Amino acid sequence: MVSGKLNLKSDVKDIGLAADGARRVEWAARQMPVLKQIRERFGKERPLKGIRMAACLHVTTETANLMQVMKAGGAEIVLCASNPLSTQDDASAFLVKEGITVCAIKGESKVVYAKHLNTALDLKPHITMDDGADLVSELHGRRKNLVGNMLGGAEETTTGVIRLRSLEAQKRLLFPVIGVNDADTKHFFDNRYGTGQSTIDGILRATNLLMAGSTFVVCGYGQCGRGLAVRAKGMGAHVIVTEINPLRALEAVMDGYVVMPAAEAAKVGDVFVTVTGNAGVIRTEHFKTMKDGVVVANSGHFDVELDMEGLRKIAKRRREVRPFVEEFTLADGRKINVLAEGRLVNLVSAEGHPAMVMDMSFANQALSAEYLVKHHGELEKKVYAVPKDIDREIARIKLNAMGVKIDQLTPYQKKYLSSWELGTI
Ligand code: ADE
Repeated sequence: MVSGKLNLKSDVKDIGLAADGARRVEWAARQMPVLKQIRERFGKERPLKGIRMAACLHVTTETANLMQVMKAGGAEIVLCASNPLSTQDDASAFLVKEGITVCAIKGESKVVYAKHLNTALDLKPHITMDDGADLVSELHGRRKNLVGNMLGGAEETTTGVIRLRSLEAQKRLLFPVIGVNDADTKHFFDNRYGTGQSTIDGILRATNLLMAGSTFVVCGYGQCGRGLAVRAKGMGAHVIVTEINPLRALEAVMDGYVVMPAAEAAKVGDVFVTVTGNAGVIRTEHFKTMKDGVVVANSGHFDVELDMEGLRKIAKRRREVRPFVEEFTLADGRKINVLAEGRLVNLVSAEGHPAMVMDMSFANQALSAEYLVKHHGELEKKVYAVPKDIDREIARIKLNAMGVKIDQLTPYQKKYLSSWELGTI
């Protein structure tokens, strides 16, 4: 597929995978009723007509559904990957057949990754959709000349929102961005249930380990860490949490986990997973004290949570023992198995979050893009939350689609909540 007037060419692994992609995209669609509803409305109202959108997302079957919604709304799109290893090649082939320009290949090098990112920006976008803020970051650096076209951006993930807030704090943000991650219908579900389940899915597909009876160390007790800890516990693991935030550490203790510093956890864990969004969480000093045969993985956005450079330095030998399992042998013969090259294990070794939760995350993305197009004139160069009415509406549609009914406030309850006079005396 060649994008409209600009002659931007797709770059995917094998267009012959499109039929497989079509079946899997349709399967995901069955769990995405909120997106379906938005797609139907977008098809009628065409709120994105004439809008050029660069998207840098994990190219999965769920993302393919989102791209179809944006296309139905009238947007011209170039999609690239937000991680070199997370692309599902059949989903990208399918999208190309659907008339969307896609530049994403699973296993692409860093150079190709950067080239694909820049092809997306060659579209001269009006809006960006990021997962990790790579498009916005390029637009504030090498591609600053394109900022004049921009109405705004939408950001999917915690790490991306952190990057944007730092730009905003330095008063260097050049256009408004909506932090989709912070919507309740996003992070309470995608980060918690999505990361929780898909991280374990990735670890098990890569290793086929038994969870029951293992000592499972979760580094970071944000929404992702909580989701992961509770699923690991549910499968019979002894869960240890490491934290730097006293409040979160306290919550982890009261949720029933053992909390200790990473240096102590390193000596006793069988499986380690980082989900902090920070860099250098498991370091050389930790690797040096780990037991023989441990499994170490990351499910945070960037591959910076494990000090892979440090591990490479202390290892005498490295070999791939299974797909996406690299065994590092230390000088004394102990072996450390790192999954997915320290990149997001849930998207590299498994399929990412299930469609059921991505439905809400991506509904926030689609409606945030529509909001930016309609309201950009009123917005400043700031990081905005998803408007509360959009967030609530997504929850309402989702519940409705699940066949769950809830109560309404009675007139008396409404009055009670809005008055200070009504007490107990
Ligand atoms: N991030 C985590 N899981 C994902 C998925 N299934 N699709 C797109 N982005 C994701």
